[in-house]
Amino acid sequence: MLDLTGRVAIVTGASRGIGRGIAALLASHGAHVVAAARGENAAGTASEIRSAGGKAESVPLEVTDAPSIEAMVAGVLDRHGRIDILVNNAGITRDQLMLRMKRDDWDQVIATNLTSAFAVVQAALKPMIKQRGGRIISISSVVGQSGNAGQANYAASKAGLIGFSKAVAREVASRNITVNVVAPGLIETDMTKAITDKAQHDWTAQIPLGRLGTTADVAAAVCFLASDEASYITGQVLAVNGGMYM
Ligand SMILES: NC(=O)c1ccc[n+]([C@@H]2O[C@H](COP(=O)([O-])OP(=O)(O)OC[C@H]3O[C@@H](n4cnc5c(N)ncnc54)[C@H](OP(=O)(O)O)[C@@H]3O)[C@@H](O)[C@H]2O)c1
Repeated sequence: MLDLTGRVAIVTGASRGIGRGIAALLASHGAHVVAAARGENAAGTASEIRSAGGKAESVPLEVTDAPSIEAMVAGVLDRHGRIDILVNNAGITRDQLMLRMKRDDWDQVIATNLTSAFAVVQAALKPMIKQRGGRIISISSVVGQSGNAGQANYAASKAGLIGFSKAVAREVASRNITVNVVAPGLIETDMTKAITDKAQHDWTAQIPLGRLGTTADVAAAVCFLASDEASYITGQVLAVNGGMYM
């Protein structure tokens, strides 16, 4: 059983879907979870964790806004004095074929999915370096590895997270900080609800394990990478995709 007792873990995009599942599983392994999303959106996640006997608080965070990130990290350090685990999970899609994609669709996706990780990691790294330890895990996507028509912006942001994480992993390994990526395939959340039944059926046919993934599947991979058991793993991409891309 993984033991994260006493660890302070920030999860961005923790109001629903994969982020909510990650927050709940980290807390069930003993971590104190800081569930972050816009406004009060992550309050439900934190109260659900507390109702189950775990430790959690919710914080407002707009990942495209540098002052919001600085305030969130400063608040966590004031209250807890440390950050042990950072999960960069917040993300959006603005799908469109390349010839029709608006510059704004590109900018918003890159800002929310990739530039956010740059800014949050930069803020969280200082305390991790001081502590001489930490775990950074970013949620990429199978699409960042395989590409997908209609998702040039999203694929670029998710592939960018992989290169970014490998570079930072090399910079901070000597400080006992690991930096890894989890790349989910098709997971049942609000993000995939918009996909039609026909498209879901077609996608499922391409998944060797024959089903969509669950938020629990992704959360299990994140918790492993956050644990002591993964202390010799850095700069890696752990695919949680049912074999969809090998
Ligand atoms: N579902 C899949 O099949 C799948 C597959 C591969 C990768 N992923 C990745 O996994 C992550 C989570 O996906 P999901 O399916 O759980 O999505 P989701 O249900 O749409 O949830 C997205 C989360 O991101 C947060 N978020 C979005 N924009 C934000 C912003 N500007 N500032 C702060 N928080 C923001 C949302 O919080 P608010 O409450 O503030 O809106 C929400 O908590 C994403 O990075 C996604 O790209 C998903």
